Amino acid sequence: MELTIEELQNKLKAWKGCELAKNSNPVLGEGNPKAEIMFIGEAPGQKEDEQGRPFVGSAGKLLNELIESIGLKREDVYISNVVKYRPPENRDPTDEEKAQCMPWLKMEILIIKPKVIVPLGRHALGHFFPKLAISKAHGLPQKVSDKLTIFPIYHPAAALHNGNIRQPLFDDFAALKKYLET
Ligand code: URA
Repeated sequence: MELTIEELQNKLKAWKGCELAKNSNPVLGEGNPKAEIMFIGEAPGQKEDEQGRPFVGSAGKLLNELIESIGLKREDVYISNVVKYRPPENRDPTDEEKAQCMPWLKMEILIIKPKVIVPLGRHALGHFFPKLAISKAHGLPQKVSDKLTIFPIYHPAAALHNGNIRQPLFDDFAALKKYLET
């Protein structure tokens, strides 16, 4: 029988398969278990580690704004990360850490069965298309099958560091809305 997200969450809490688990709290995805859209970020930051929830810090605030800009609410979608524990000082997750956490993301995708997956930024995009650059692929849907499209978008944190990314982010969300309507 298929696991639920709550059951997966409990299994993650007991998991010690990643060095990062020694110094941070598990952060699985959250949202509508029947969501058609799933957003995937990089890894939890400080606020996410403290609260055990994805995208609750400043990048999360912007993500909420972007989701609302296309007429959806955070509760309508499912939001997760490639890596389930916070890398120290918010450094980039290593290839090993991403590989160790990959089964959790795969299980979340199997449970949620989204129609559209939105990788936010290069780490999540690399999970699906290791050779695509986010600077070229953002805003362009990649149909994987009749049941699944990958729609890459910049990571919201990129816009917090570089103001020039803010408008392309909102434009990509507008393109996502159009895609969802077709
Ligand atoms: N950045 C991410 O990639 N994920 C989070 O959960 C928060 C910030």
